[in-house]
Amino acid sequence: MIGKVARMFLQRLASKVSVLAPAKINLFLELLGKRPDGFHELETVMVAVSLFDQLEVTPQTTPHIELDCAWQLGQIAQASQWPDPSQFLGDLPPTESNLVYRAVKLLQTEENVSQGARIVLRKRIPSASGFGGASSDAAAALVAANLAWNLGCPIQRLSELAASLGSDIPFFLHAGQLGSGQAVATGRGEKIATFEGKRLDLVLVRPAGGLSTPEVFRRCRIPETPESAKAMVAALQSDQQASMPRQLTNRLCLPARELSPRIDRLATLCEQLDVVAHQMSGSGSGYFAICRNRSHAQRVAARLHAANVGMVFPVTTCGMRALRN
Ligand code: C5P
Repeated sequence: MIGKVARMFLQRLASKVSVLAPAKINLFLELLGKRPDGFHELETVMVAVSLFDQLEVTPQTTPHIELDCAWQLGQIAQASQWPDPSQFLGDLPPTESNLVYRAVKLLQTEENVSQGARIVLRKRIPSASGFGGASSDAAAALVAANLAWNLGCPIQRLSELAASLGSDIPFFLHAGQLGSGQAVATGRGEKIATFEGKRLDLVLVRPAGGLSTPEVFRRCRIPETPESAKAMVAALQSDQQASMPRQLTNRLCLPARELSPRIDRLATLCEQLDVVAHQMSGSGSGYFAICRNRSHAQRVAARLHAANVGMVFPVTTCGMRALRN
C-alpha cells in the first residue's frame, strides 16, 4: 500500500517532477514579542495534514517560467454543494505574485539556471485559511525545481531561499516535504525543530470568507506571560489520548474572531460535537477539530457539513517523507 502511495506522491517521469503539497494546522501558537522588522517572534507547533495541492514541474530549454494554476474543484469533497465555491476557497494570485512562481524564479536566479520551467499547480487547500496552502506550494516548488533542474541544492540552501519568501515555508520544506510532518517553529516561524509525534485524525473547516494574515497580526496583543509549547509536544509524543490539552492555545484567535463571527460559530458547534479539542489554525479563518479516531472524524465531518458551516475536510496528520518511504 505504502509503495503505491509513495509512487503517487513523488513521481519523476523523464524530467517531469510531481510533488504533493500538504496543508498544515497550528496545534499551538503563542506570540512572544514584536520585532523591529515588524514581524512577531512566536512559538508554534505545526503539523502537516492529508489535504494536498499537486504540483508538476517540467524543465524547458528557454528560461521562461510558466505557471498554470487552478482549483481542482472536482477533487474537493462536497465542493459541488456550494453555488460559489470561491467564497470558501479564496482567490488565486496572479502568476507574478504567486509564491510558487516567485520560489522557482528565485531558485533560477540564485543558482544561475539557464533552463526555464512549466509549472502546473492544482489547488485543493483553501487560501486565506491558516492552512498554509501557498507556503506549502512554494516549498514543494523548490523541491521539485531542484530535482527537475538537477541542481542538487542542499536543504540548508533551499531553506534560506524558503525563509526569504515567507515565514511558514521552511516548515513545509523540513517537516512537510522531508520530515515527519510535525515541528516546533520559532523566530518568525522559520526556525524549525522537527519531532516524531503520534498520528491524529482531524476535521478541517474553511468557513465562507478568509482572513488576511497581516490584518490579523496587526490586531494581536502580546501576552505578559506567554504559554509554552512543551505540553503540546509532550501530548503528541505520548500514547495517551487524554494527554491532549482540551484548551488549545492560538494567540491569533482573539483578533481573528473580531474580524470573522464565523469562528465563534465553529467553536460553539465543535463544543457540541464532543471532539477531543478544537481551535482556529494559524491566522484563520480555517478551523480544526481533533477527533478520537478516523470513524469519529467521519461522523464529525458529516455533522459539520450538515450544519452548512463551510467546506469540510476529514484528514490525518502526515509527513511526505513517511509516505514516500
Ligand atoms: O512571512 P509571511 O509572508 O507569511 O508573513 C505575512 C505577514 O504576516 C507579514 O507581513 C506580517 O505582517 C505577519 N507576520 C508577523 N509575524 C510573523 C509572521 C507573519 O507579523 N512571525
